[in-house]
This record gives sequence, structure tokens and C-alpha cells, in this order.
Amino acid sequence: MHKSEPLNKRKGESRTLIEQIHLMDRTIVHIDRVSSTQDVAKKTNSMSLGTVVVADVQDQGRGQHGHEWISPRGGLYASMVLRNDPLISVRVGVAVARALKKLEIDAYLKWPNDVVVAGKKIAGILIEAKGEAAVVGIGLNIDTSPLPGSTCVTDQTKLPTSRDQLLRCILDRLERTYEEDIIQAYRQLCVTIGQDVKVSVGRETITGHVHSISALGHLMLKIGDQLRIIDSGQCTHLAP
Ligand code: BTN
Repeated sequence: MHKSEPLNKRKGESRTLIEQIHLMDRTIVHIDRVSSTQDVAKKTNSMSLGTVVVADVQDQGRGQHGHEWISPRGGLYASMVLRNDPLISVRVGVAVARALKKLEIDAYLKWPNDVVVAGKKIAGILIEAKGEAAVVGIGLNIDTSPLPGSTCVTDQTKLPTSRDQLLRCILDRLERTYEEDIIQAYRQLCVTIGQDVKVSVGRETITGHVHSISALGHLMLKIGDQLRIIDSGQCTHLAP
């Protein structure tokens, strides 16, 4: 591991601590406070594949579907620049769930990639494509559960861990997903299969029964006799 000089501070960021570390071919940039790690990762000087931006606090963390991601101290907020591929969301979801399983936390995936424990959300993933790259944001509750109905790592395990250990574990698990049938692994973790669900797709709301997940990670929804494939949307399980 080699610790390099701190990155240049931008105007107006005089009190921001930025530290860059090179670890196993990855550049990990730690910043204490940002608006959103997604935006920092998208800036051209850090837009090289493998870069990971981690912050202690985000003032304008964002979630899927235009929602806010409340990001106080005590969580993992990381954005990584990866080569875009159709299964990226599936890979990252599996990697986060597996990193939690290593801590004996029974984590599963709610389609497409909410990470849940006993029905409560513990982590979320946001993917924003930029050219051939994808900026993949992971928000994981570690010491705090900012929203009612959510949970956090310290509530689910007695095993010791830290944000940086969890991040490394996720990155390692993510690398390994390129060597396996990742859809099969995803299906085994996906608690949405077999559920009656309501899915919002744009302005349309579709209700049906989840038959399976396609080879591309899309929802295969049975609506009466018909099968409809949904590639993205906001999914709610109708049974608790
Ligand atoms: C979701 O809504 O489930 C996705 C949440 C993604 C939050 C992470 S935290 C790190 C990165 N920066 C952001 O502003 N959002 C993502």
C-alpha cells in the first residue's frame, strides 16, 4: 500500500481533508465531507476506472428515483468508477450482500438492488452511467439507521468491523463476481422472486407476481396469463 500526496484542494474546500491511497490497483480517495461522492467520482480527474471515492458525510447524498440518501457520520458512502456492463447492478448487489454475510448478517436483495436484512433496508445502490463507465454508489448503514424501517450493521452483528474493512470486503467480493454465473447467485439472494409486487415504471403502476429474474437481471412479472419483462422501476412487495 502506498500513500500518496493529498490531492489538490479545490477553491472553497480549504477545510476539506482529501487523502488518496493506492490499494491493490485501486485508487481510493477519502474525503471528510462532500455533497455527493457520485459527483466527486464523476469529475474528470478522478474518472479513471478503478477509482473509489469515500466520504464520512454527504450533504446531498442521492438515492434511486430522485430520493435523498440521508448520509450522517457512521455510514459507508462510496462511489466507484467501473466499466459499465449490463449486469453491473446485479454484481454490486451480490457483492454487498456477501460482504455482510461474512459478518454473519443474513442479507438478501430486493429487486433490483436494495440490500435488506429481515425486511429492513441496510444498503442501497445507485448506478449512473457516464459513457463507457458507470459510477456505482453504495450507501451502507453501519452505526446508524437514518430512516424508520431501516437497519444498520451494528444492530445486526456482534462481530467487529469498520467502514474501511467493509469497503475492502465489498470490493474484493465485487472482483470475484466476474468469475461466476452471477445471475444464478443473484436469484439465490433475491427475496422478490415469488412475491406479489407493485412496480412503478415512469407514470405506470403494474401489479403482478414475480415469476423470476431474467438472465439480464430484469423482473419477469406474471400479470394474469401474460409475462412482462421490466428492466427498471420502483418495486414494492405487497406482502410484508
Ligand atoms: C438507494 O436509493 O437505494 C440508493 C442509495 C445510494 C446512496 C449512495 S451513498 C454513496 C453514493 N453517493 C450518493 O449520493 N449516493 C450513493
